Amino acid sequence: LTNPLIWAVIGYLLGSIPFGLLLARGQGIDLRGVGSGNIGATNVLRTGRKGIALATLLLDAGKGAAAVLLAQHFAGYEAAQIAGVAAFTGHCFPVWLKFNGGKGVSTLLGVAFAAAPLIGVCVALVWLGAAAITRYSSAGGLAAAVAAPVAGYFLGAPGWTIAFAVMAVLLWWRHADNIKRLANGTESKIGAK
Ligand code: G3P
Repeated sequence: LTNPLIWAVIGYLLGSIPFGLLLARGQGIDLRGVGSGNIGATNVLRTGRKGIALATLLLDAGKGAAAVLLAQHFAGYEAAQIAGVAAFTGHCFPVWLKFNGGKGVSTLLGVAFAAAPLIGVCVALVWLGAAAITRYSSAGGLAAAVAAPVAGYFLGAPGWTIAFAVMAVLLWWRHADNIKRLANGTESKIGAK
């Protein structure tokens, strides 16, 4: 467990647990047939079940945070960065779902808080602020993804800056459809049915 590369595997496996899909299934709902079809908290919210939407947000964030904190404990600082990127990758591209998973916003938040509480606070404030102003969950996530490497840079954490830059690129890529909908004005607003 002291080998940083083991944390790429453990992080990926932790990240690949699709909590939203499983929680919705527990309520008899197939999330793939709801809204955007995504497995994240935003789409769980479209089912009208606020409790499991919040649980999805917390569990998807928690798995990212757990990967980072465990790796940090057993194998140190660089392993924590590897585990964070791996958990994020596992969420977006889980082997169990033919590599078609979520979009990474909640998991990024969890990784950010575990990386450094101050990075987490910055990312969360940008996420909430952008989502509140625009009323688009995706816009909040896209802005938060940019904030993460910027916060890492200004807080003097070069390794995390690179790790978050990688996650930001993947997150924007996973939001390609959202970006198209934002551009042509068809993205669904928070709370819209
Ligand atoms: O967290 C994902 C969010 O940014 C977009 O989700 O379901 O609106 O595509 P969705």
